[in-house]
Amino acid sequence: MVVLVTGSGGQLGQALQFIAPNYPDIHFVFCDSTILDITNLNNIKQLFQQFKPSFCINAAAYTAVDKAESEPERAHLINVVGPKNLAEVCKEFDIILLHISTDFVFDGTKDSPYTEDDFPNPTCVYGQTKLDGEKAIQETWQKHFIIRTSWVYSQFGNNFMKTMLRLASERDKLSVVNDQIGTPTYAVDLAEVLIRIIQSPFTHHPSPNTFGIYNFSNEGQSSWYDFAKKIFEYNNIKINLEPIPSISFPTQAKRPTYSVLDKRNIKKVFGVEVKYWEESLKKI
Ligand SMILES: NC(=O)c1ccc[n+]([C@@H]2O[C@H](COP(=O)([O-])OP(=O)(O)OC[C@H]3O[C@@H](n4cnc5c(N)ncnc54)[C@H](OP(=O)(O)O)[C@@H]3O)[C@@H](O)[C@H]2O)c1
Repeated sequence: MVVLVTGSGGQLGQALQFIAPNYPDIHFVFCDSTILDITNLNNIKQLFQQFKPSFCINAAAYTAVDKAESEPERAHLINVVGPKNLAEVCKEFDIILLHISTDFVFDGTKDSPYTEDDFPNPTCVYGQTKLDGEKAIQETWQKHFIIRTSWVYSQFGNNFMKTMLRLASERDKLSVVNDQIGTPTYAVDLAEVLIRIIQSPFTHHPSPNTFGIYNFSNEGQSSWYDFAKKIFEYNNIKINLEPIPSISFPTQAKRPTYSVLDKRNIKKVFGVEVKYWEESLKKI
């Protein structure tokens, strides 16, 4: 079974490369942005013709949440046109597409976990482009899984955990917002879930409602402040950490104040056991 991964140089792409040796039955084709540009339809066709994948994992995205506010066209190109191109080529070659989306499709006004059926209402350009990317896939090719996830971190790429560790090596005191609530998700846990979906009998013998949107994050919830506190605790770093409201840390993009995801569907359909976020963080 051939699984082609786009955006393999990014955080999730590297997490998939990290676990790939555990799956000798899968022939992974890892394509970074220099080999495969998802905004180039012919480039995708040529690689899909060459490698004949059964599955495509789209780990490519425009993920600069604040910068997207000042370059919406580029965010749209990568997060909407790119996924649409992939869906078109997947349709042409009958390939199952796994695409990653985000908790930022929601406005954060709920106070209980978001289900797949909750109405999305993004508050920033990044969230809007990710939602439009979901729609572009849904309109183009039925055999897709859209996995919405949140607050992804790992030893790979750029992420909040690595930023905190770097800042702690440069400063004695840090202020982190404590009024945005979500769930940190370890990229390796997310990568494992994608492979579980690929290997599932439900994917190979799908019913009409097997495909579609699924939420996946780690279990539990935290603020960015709680997350930072645990990062320092597990790394034995002593630092003066101050909780602050978002209003004291203005950003270009408006983020949802609450974005915990309900994982009942992915657990039920694919038997996924979801680890608590602290458990995964502790292990790194
Ligand atoms: N990180 C989070 O907190 C988070 C939260 C929720 C959802 N997600 C979603 O999870 C997925 C994976 O995120 P991540 O953290 O792994 O992101 P990431 O580290 O920023 O990786 C994204 C990758 O996409 C590549 N890319 C950009 N434009 C491309 C193009 N036109 N063609 C091919 N590749 C391109 C980038 O390559 P270059 O660097 O070479 O441009 C980069 O390697 C994304 O869909 C993201 O929206 C992430």
